[in-house]
Amino acid sequence: MNNFEKVKQNLEESKISFQLLPVKGKSVDETVAELGIKFREGLSTLIFSVNSGERYVAVLRRDDKNINNKMLKQAVGSDNVTFANEEDLKKLGFEPGLASPILLKERGIDIILDRAVLEMNKIVCGSTSPNFALGINQADLMKIIGETRVYSVTEPNPTRQDNDKFVRVLTGDRPTGPLHLGHYLGSIKNRVELQNNYELFYLIADIQALTDNHKNPEKVASNVFQVAQDNLACGIDPEKTTIFIQSMIPEIAELTVLFMNLVSHSEVLRNPTVKTEIADKKFGETVPFGFVAYPVSQAADILFCKSNLIPVGIDQAPMIELSKEIADRFNKIYGKEIFPLPEALFGVSKNLVGTDGGSKMSKSLGNTINLIDEDEILKKKIMNMYTDPNRIHANDPGKVEGNPVFIYHDAFNINLDEVNNLKQRYEKGTVGDVEVKEKLFIAIKSFLEPIRARRELFPIDKVKEIVFAGIEKTRKVAKQTLEEVREVMKISY
Ligand code: TRP
Repeated sequence: MNNFEKVKQNLEESKISFQLLPVKGKSVDETVAELGIKFREGLSTLIFSVNSGERYVAVLRRDDKNINNKMLKQAVGSDNVTFANEEDLKKLGFEPGLASPILLKERGIDIILDRAVLEMNKIVCGSTSPNFALGINQADLMKIIGETRVYSVTEPNPTRQDNDKFVRVLTGDRPTGPLHLGHYLGSIKNRVELQNNYELFYLIADIQALTDNHKNPEKVASNVFQVAQDNLACGIDPEKTTIFIQSMIPEIAELTVLFMNLVSHSEVLRNPTVKTEIADKKFGETVPFGFVAYPVSQAADILFCKSNLIPVGIDQAPMIELSKEIADRFNKIYGKEIFPLPEALFGVSKNLVGTDGGSKMSKSLGNTINLIDEDEILKKKIMNMYTDPNRIHANDPGKVEGNPVFIYHDAFNINLDEVNNLKQRYEKGTVGDVEVKEKLFIAIKSFLEPIRARRELFPIDKVKEIVFAGIEKTRKVAKQTLEEVREVMKISY
């Protein structure tokens, strides 16, 4: 009996109703268009090999989502998780691209059910036949799958959001210094792409910046328009994106106070990012209350305009989780769906390392390469970068993995042949740090070139004009939400 017959037999034996939907297309995008369904109604079965074939897991995820590798590795409990190749699939009795959730159990494949699948109702998934998709109700599919744990292993796929769904993107930065390469990879790059498809709000978080700089207001003030300019230089288009300053929207402060009751004291103290920051900044017992509470204020940043897609660096995951919690609690307590449940969109699964090899490029750690750095500074920073600490002479074999210089080459050097050549020679001990760094300087310089050119188009006066127009627009949205909030909280007099 072939796979397709087995699928039909399994379903018939369990007396489950299902439909076989004829399809011609092969890809998800083709099938979704052909059947006239939504991406969020499609379910894909993705098979992964763990520890090079030691075992296999199947991820069931909605088609409007992408796997987040870091989350998947955590769920699986191994760092070695790769897509199953043709040979693996053959072993498991599947043809490439033609798996089905119906046969996983009998093939002994562990299932990772992504949380978003629980929100599905009618599901269209694989039948193992190239000519049919399988239509089945979520509850029925769960019966076949049996007991499985549920994990969060995905993030929204920006190219597959159903257009009947309202998507508003909000993201922001603290204006405490010029933006750097880590910001670029972690969030700016994403937002520049997203603005073409969605309404985008960009917040300059001056109030949040003051939570740990209240004695140094000049530092924040002097960076507000700088940060706006950095974004414009990277391609943020003021015609598409609304740029505004947090402190100019008093409704955000109001909402923060109202949200404070929905979060417990211990929940705030548990926030892993805040904990790390408190340690990094060496606050000890003197940590300001406002600083500990900033995740609540960040939830207000996100929810005041009902945004639901939040491109951020991975370190911001706990903030988005809390925002989601607050939105959900608010809607439930006050009995109305006022807020959407926001979701994070991570730029990269890891923060970019600093020039000192520290875990994160961060202005407070002084290990950044800034987007505004001129050649001379850029060169100096690169020539002083950490490399392989065990390598003393240019003819010692060196380590490429985890080496910050090569991490940057991978991220910014578009000449892949050059990068591979340098890596090979580095591992053999036939290239010195200086050459590797000089080539990195050239690569980053050419990466920065168009950013520098675009910056010229946005002198600070022009930036200010753009930001004030953005503030005006944002306030209208904020007022509307606060009216709804006051109404259900019965403080609308
Ligand atoms: N906490 C973010 C950072 O430190 C900045 C930020 C403030 C933000 N409010 C936000 C990011 C709202 C996304 C959404 O980088």
